[in-house]
Order: sequence, then structure tokens, then C-alpha cells
Amino acid sequence: MSDSPKLTRRPEWTALEDHRAGALLHPDLRELFAADPGRAERYVVRVGDLRIDYSKNLVTDETLALLQELATATGVFGLRDAMFRGEKINVTEDRAVLHTALRAPRDAVIEVDGENVVPKVHAVLDKMTDFAERVRSGEWTGHTGKRIRNVVNIGIGGSDLGPAMAYEALRAYSDRALTFRFVSNVDGADLHEAVRDLDPAETLFIVASKTFTTIETITNATSARSWLLAGLDGADKAVAKHFVALSTNAGKVAEFGIDVDNMFEFWDWVGGRYSYDSAIGLSLMIAIGPDRFREMLDGFRIVDEHFRNAPAEANAPLLLGLLGIWYGNFFGAQSHAVLPYSHYLSKFTAYLQQLDMESNGKSTDRDGKPVEWQTGPVVWGTPGTNGQHAYYQLIHQGTKLIPADLIGFARPVAELNEELKAQHDLLMANLFAQGQALAFGKTAAEVRAEGVPEEQVPHRTFQGNHPTTTILATELTPSVLGQLIALYEHKVFVQGAVWNIDSFDQWGVELGKVLAKRVEPALTEGARVPGLDPSTAALVAAYRELKEV
Ligand code: F6P
Repeated sequence: MSDSPKLTRRPEWTALEDHRAGALLHPDLRELFAADPGRAERYVVRVGDLRIDYSKNLVTDETLALLQELATATGVFGLRDAMFRGEKINVTEDRAVLHTALRAPRDAVIEVDGENVVPKVHAVLDKMTDFAERVRSGEWTGHTGKRIRNVVNIGIGGSDLGPAMAYEALRAYSDRALTFRFVSNVDGADLHEAVRDLDPAETLFIVASKTFTTIETITNATSARSWLLAGLDGADKAVAKHFVALSTNAGKVAEFGIDVDNMFEFWDWVGGRYSYDSAIGLSLMIAIGPDRFREMLDGFRIVDEHFRNAPAEANAPLLLGLLGIWYGNFFGAQSHAVLPYSHYLSKFTAYLQQLDMESNGKSTDRDGKPVEWQTGPVVWGTPGTNGQHAYYQLIHQGTKLIPADLIGFARPVAELNEELKAQHDLLMANLFAQGQALAFGKTAAEVRAEGVPEEQVPHRTFQGNHPTTTILATELTPSVLGQLIALYEHKVFVQGAVWNIDSFDQWGVELGKVLAKRVEPALTEGARVPGLDPSTAALVAAYRELKEV
């Protein structure tokens, strides 16, 4: 039990409250820029290939200094170092938190319970490399001798979102002769649509599950096996050529009927939502090849090292984490939008939803006490420019403060033809225009000066002062993707550390799982489920009636 003062009673916290109620009571970005001509150049932090411009945030030098003092006082740096050292900072599960070991160089030494885990990480990477190359070259064939042309990843949560997001992001680097599908939903329609046009003889299933007990994944994997065996005339031994597993649980993998030689291991110190750079990334490695996969790991590592070593004032994940705390805890912002101006990042925000919301959606602190401050935000967003024609209206003129990250690239992927490449400037013009409009708005005087009829002036005025952070890189390469993901991983870490919550457990998902298991017999067999509340009992009865109609 810690005897540290409650977060909101810390002097560093109350200093921020005073600052918000005083100097930043009505922050105005026009004024902040006017008062500080160097702001646009100074409020930029660089890490690896990322240029992170935070000048359009509602902060001053004083705000940033006060936020850094809060980070120091709440022990962010000590916890960070403990994480990198392999200490068991996941207190409720008594586990180390070592996704950073997944991208450590071969000669690094990181110990958990006295054992260096780095050789194990590289042994699995080497095994993945060998397998990926065999599939890509056609050397690994299916049961009938045909080469594998389709790879179907079956997993959910961290065992799906990461590989699915990264495959989409790096599609331009993928082997276009191979088809990749990602099945997660226990709704049979997901698997049906994923395999309906595939030849079982050419299809490899990758069953991805840290625990190998997740009901959705085991159910889908069982149905996939039936589909395969039906298509291959029931040849049971076909499973060995068409199913591999990614898991920490060899016993359950064997029980399912997958040869553990075809299992790619990871460990309990890799959280599901931090796992796509582990064996969970096998489908991605097959898609983009082992060299590109390693480039991605190098990208992660660049940001790991930066987070570990960069001074506080130039530490990008620290800065992003603290900005989120500033808005969530001192402005009452409830959500955070991530708006990538890249079609290839169409699944990026969905991935971040699990990373952030499963990590920091907590209301009990590390000492088991209820928190009395806001914790993780609702994370949401879709690629620009689509969002502009849907929900940006609310960001511009609604009643809620929604800080946003705008992410864009200087160059489109090389594969596009010249005409499509030329569209890129238009895409990026939208990103820059939105950042400008959100920050600086349009005053009533400016609207009037355009000759707008007086009754329309209030409707056509933009209040501005909507904070955005703009993250730019030259191109969306594997390394840049790794850098972006590590940036957000460590941002989430910083926030959890300040809020004094365990960002690495997810007890909140358990109750629903238990209840679903209990309710299922009532749906399938009409069994009486003890303890069902009247509302749910009525829904179950209605469902059964409708089913019979
Ligand atoms: O239920 C939540 C969760 O445990 C996530 O944290 C995890 O990513 C997902 O389920 C899938 O778990 P597994 O990889 O064990 O199948």
C-alpha cells in the first residue's frame, strides 16, 4: 500500500488547477500565437521519423512545466524504468510488463524472475521468420500439396486488432499474391464471409489467442477446422498443414489438436493489446516478409529508447500523455479523437481504442481504492477526410471539447499511379485546413466582413480553440508504423502512471464473459438460468419466441 498523497491533493495538481482557473481560464490560441512568435517552431518534438507539432494545444510554457512537475511527483519516471527492467508493475496480476523486450536487440539482457527473456524472444522471431519464408516461397504446402494462397487469422481483441490494423497499414508492402483475412466475431457471418470464396486446400488458419481459452476464438477455430475438413474430404491429418497457433498456452493448443511444433509462443508478460509485435504478428510477417517486420520492430525500438532517455521537455510520449491529462482532468474533456489522414490507417483508431480504453478504463487505483479523478478517455475517430463529412461538425461547433490528433504523411505510397499520387496534396490540404479551422475558427467580425446576413452570423461563426496535435512523417513505412504504435503505447503508460491505475490488467471484461456462458443454455435449450434479472429474463424469453416464429 502506498502512503503517497491522493493525486488531487498533491501541490503539483492544485498548481495546475490554479493555473487553469487563472492564466488559462479562457485560453485563446490566436492570443497565444500572437504573444509568442516562436511558438510554431518551439512546440515541436521529434522522435525517429515523427515530427509532432503540439503548438495548437491550449498550453503555455508554464502549463508544460507544471505538467512535467506532476509527472515527476507521481513517479512516472520510476515506474517507466521499472517497466523496462522487467519488474512486476502489473500489480493485480503480479506480472512484468515487457512488450519492450519484444523489440530489444539480440544482445540485450532483460530479466524476469532471474531469467534473460531476450534469447526466447529472438528464438520465436527466428522460428516465425523461417515459417513465414516457407509460406511466402511456396515451400510450405497444404495437405494436398497445393501452395498456400490464403491466410486467415482467427483471434479477437489484441489477437486480432493489431495484426488486422498493421496488415491494412502496410498493405502496400504485402505480397499481393496472397490473400489475408481476419476473423474475430463469434457471429458466424464473420467466418462465413472470410472463407466463402477460398479453396481449403490453399488456406492456412492462424489461431491467435494468448490464453487459448477465449470462447469466440475457439468457437471460430473449431468451425474453421470443420470447414477445412469438409473441403478436404475429412482428412484429419490435414490440420497439421493448415493450422498453426500463436499462444502462451501449449497445453490448450495441444488439446485443440494443433501440433505444438506449429505453435509460436509468447509469454504472460506480453499484454494482449501490446502483443502484435510478438508471435501474434505472424500473419503480418507472412504478408510483409520478415525483413519488413524487423524494420517495424526497429521503429518500435526507436521510440522505446526515446521514451526511456529523452529529457522530459522533449519526450514525445510523456508530452502526449500529459496533454491528455490536461484536457481530461482540467478541462473536463471526455474523449480524444485520433484522425489519420491516410486510408491505410483505417483500422488505426480501432486498434488504439483497445490499447487505450482497455488499459486506462479503470476506476480503482493501484492500492485498491476508488479513484476520485477522471481516468482514460473515450478514444474514437476514422480517417480524414471521411470524418469531415460526418462528425467534424460537432468538433467545430458542438458543445464538447474534443482534443484530436491529426496524423499525416508527406508522400503517398509509391505504388499509386501518378494521377492518384497527385491527390495526396489535396488530402493533406484537408488535414492542415482542419487543424487551422479548429484552432483559430472564424470570428463573428470575419463572418460579417464577408457580407453574411446578420441572422446567419452566429451560425457561421467558429469559436476555434479546439486543440489538435499534428503528427507528420515522410511516409507510412513499417518503421514509422512501429514508431507510431510505441508512441501511443507509452502515452497510455504515462497517463496510467499519473492516475495511479494498473494499465495492464482488464478485469472489467470478465463479468460479461461469465454471464454469456451462463445465459447461452437458456437460448439454445431453454434452460432455466438461476439469478437472471427480470429484464434479461424477459429478453431471453422474447428471443426464444422470435426464434421459433
Ligand atoms: O477479453 C479481453 C481480452 O482478454 C483482451 O485483453 C485480449 O486481447 C482478448 O481478450 C483476447 O484474448 P486471447 O488472446 O487470450 O484470446
